[in-house]
Amino acid sequence: MSDARNSLTAPAVTRLADYEAYPYRAEFCRLKFELDATRTLVTQETRFVRVDSAVSGIELFGKNLTRVSIKVDGEEVTEDRLVEIDETLLIRSVPKEFLLTVITQIDPQSNTALEGLYLSNGMFCTQCEAEGFRRITYYPDRPDVLSIFTTTVIADASYPVLLSNGNPVSETLLSDGRREVTWHDPFPKPCYLFALVGGDLSVRTDCFVTRSGRQVELRIYVEKNDLNRVDYALASLKRAMRWDEESFGREYDLDIFMIVAVSHFNMGAMENKGLNIFNSSCVLANSDAATDSAFQRIEAIVAHEYFHNWSGNRVTCRDWFQLSLKEGFTVFRDSEFTSDINSRAVKRIQDVNFLRSAQFTEDSGPTAHPVQPTEYLEISNFYTLTIYEKGAEVVRMIKTLLGPSLFRKGSDLYFERHDGEAVTIDDFVQAMAAVSGRDFTQFMRWYRQVGTPVLAVSSQFDSGRRVLNIEVEQRPPSDVGEGTQEPYLIPVSYQVFDQFTGQILIPEQLIELDGKTAQLELSVPHGDPILSVLRGLSAPVKLEFERPLSELMAIALYDDDGVSRWDAIQALYINAIRENMGHSTSEDSLETVIQVVQGLVNNPKTIDDPACVAEMLAMPQDNILWAAMQPADPQYILEARKSIRTSIAFALKELWEPLFRAMKVSGDYVPEADSIGRRSLSITALSYLARSGNADEILTKLFDGANNLTERFAAYRIARADASTEVSELLSDRFLELATTDEVLDLWLSTEAVNERTADLNRIKVLTEHPRFAWTNPNRVRAVIGAFSARNVKTFHSASGYRFLANAVLKLDSMNPQIAARLVNPLCQWSRFSKDYADLMKQELSFLISQKLSKDLYEIVDKSKG
Ligand code: BES
Ligand code: ZN
Repeated sequence: MSDARNSLTAPAVTRLADYEAYPYRAEFCRLKFELDATRTLVTQETRFVRVDSAVSGIELFGKNLTRVSIKVDGEEVTEDRLVEIDETLLIRSVPKEFLLTVITQIDPQSNTALEGLYLSNGMFCTQCEAEGFRRITYYPDRPDVLSIFTTTVIADASYPVLLSNGNPVSETLLSDGRREVTWHDPFPKPCYLFALVGGDLSVRTDCFVTRSGRQVELRIYVEKNDLNRVDYALASLKRAMRWDEESFGREYDLDIFMIVAVSHFNMGAMENKGLNIFNSSCVLANSDAATDSAFQRIEAIVAHEYFHNWSGNRVTCRDWFQLSLKEGFTVFRDSEFTSDINSRAVKRIQDVNFLRSAQFTEDSGPTAHPVQPTEYLEISNFYTLTIYEKGAEVVRMIKTLLGPSLFRKGSDLYFERHDGEAVTIDDFVQAMAAVSGRDFTQFMRWYRQVGTPVLAVSSQFDSGRRVLNIEVEQRPPSDVGEGTQEPYLIPVSYQVFDQFTGQILIPEQLIELDGKTAQLELSVPHGDPILSVLRGLSAPVKLEFERPLSELMAIALYDDDGVSRWDAIQALYINAIRENMGHSTSEDSLETVIQVVQGLVNNPKTIDDPACVAEMLAMPQDNILWAAMQPADPQYILEARKSIRTSIAFALKELWEPLFRAMKVSGDYVPEADSIGRRSLSITALSYLARSGNADEILTKLFDGANNLTERFAAYRIARADASTEVSELLSDRFLELATTDEVLDLWLSTEAVNERTADLNRIKVLTEHPRFAWTNPNRVRAVIGAFSARNVKTFHSASGYRFLANAVLKLDSMNPQIAARLVNPLCQWSRFSKDYADLMKQELSFLISQKLSKDLYEIVDKSKG
């Protein structure tokens, strides 16, 4: 239990203001690993050169290490020169230049935290970001210490594949039968990008020729049975490599690029130099064992990690407060990639939906923080939606303000100026400033201020003068209070179109709101003008714009901006649900929704983009509704939402089956945007169909006849929600029979865990007792516990549901603190719910804080407990 801490002693805070450069350079770092499941020996030789003459000792970091030997220039350092406190080890009075030799012993087998070196299904692998390297050896484990790594791995014949960063340099058979393999990475890097893999793995190889004509060998390593599921990731990788050359001018730099899939992984994937390590769920896919969304996720993650080779690895972060420098920028890059190769409109709707439902929630909750935080207890807790998604939005605004060509110049300058360096968010923005001559002083508030600002808009048409008067006003986030924040620079895009014909009356413009308010007077010579504003969500703000139903309807049907259309129909759904709950805002909301849905489906122009229509037919998620109706009663809202869904289903009963059939894709399965879009709309239609009447036969037929997992899974999922008990049980059993891979098993587990008709707490418990469930595998835990607490509103939002989650989190904390700290989140949202629920949630948080918690979990619970 060395990961646990006593919650009574406050753990140390790390502050941006305390940043000091490291007083040494690390010229090279040679590592030798003698792999053994319980006693791996790690030998490190690093040459340090002092750069700050004011110091005489050297500070290293280490965690859970057994110290075997520490030498300076070959001489064992005596105990009196060593001071080890928590995770720091100080060696007193060392020479100006010296060779440090450290031997540590570690135990990968008992490492269930999955940080540092651990075993996954018998395979050795590492995860060093953010501070995992200190669990391997004593080292300056901070991102601003860059070194050139040479790694030797020694293991017996049961581990035929031995990998590390860079290029392979030698391979020897030792006299004792073990093999010794050495890798050299010529690019200086911080230790969080170090990686090692050892195991009995299968590989698929391919080749990529860079635009300057260099040959790069591509390799994907997987567990033995998984070789039939690597093709898509490999194809995605090649698309990403080409795209980065064309769109950002970035070429790959080593002779070899490897991806390894592992079953136990805390996150999605990791960008270690030349040796990306992936959660198997983010690599493995084929038509029988992955859904359309899994294919899309895999493509995006492969691209994301690959893009880090420049935005993160060649140019890295000075300290972890700069995390968004690499993550926000790289999320922006991967979303541009997805937009370019699929549908820009659909990708933007999905991103906006995610930002609003998840990041806005974080930004107004107990763990809210700026894109550039100023302090933290545990850095692992700061891989957040704010750093990632809001960070990407901020980069997107920079591009909007500069335009594509200056933005590209800025990006080129940034990479050129800082290649091989560890830099700050300011350095990134300064490159953008340098190429554009723009002053970013005010803009920097997006990085430093917390919370989501409100943009209030009103428009009034003076039909006599034919002038459209527009007023925009920004307000600081409601929870930070008036006067505590400076106004943001908000890029507001708008367009004016005709309410009845959709004709564009004033083409898209951009205003930069830099003060509190602005007024606009637009002359509109003819037509019935409607203002489309904050198009594509041109800034990450909450838009307040009261509009009559007729305008919302016109926007939903005619606006040529996907996000605005989607947004308008979301507002209509919310109105209808409100109305159903008796919080009547306006009459006829439901009627309007029904008309809009019908209009979308029957209009040849909109139905031309089925993926977009599918997004629009999806009702807002519960958490969006909770935010709109605070303090929320989750059970009451759930019922209202279901009732509106049922009403829509019945009102348009005749529409669903023809739509399902018209959109159904025939022929070979291809996971490409067009057919994914059609499948998605056909499945949406099917789910309304099942809601409006008996669809048992169509569902079983679809399940049996499908040539892909997307449709089989849809048939099973819809049956679980709306079919007869018999068919619901049948398809559940049949789907489980198909679940020969972990990824399909997780689909089954999560669907079972959220199915309101059957998933009471007892069922959840039974799922955790499934022979293939393991508390030590984060994917299984997310599939059952994560899905249950985030998506099974009926069972989770109750005293016993909350208690169940608290106990699960506590149990997990002793094995894997990172996972525990993430899973506790639903309980931390108490302030958004009505008193009965809030009190019960708080009770569980008080229970947790009274226990012995890891630093990870302690930080989250302490901030949230109220
Ligand atoms: N660098 C991160 C992985 C990471 C996160 C390592 C936290 C250690 C701690 C990686 O580049 C990443 O961001 N992965 C994402 C997926 C991505 C598509 C946003 C992930 O793992 O969820
Ligand atoms: Zn990343």
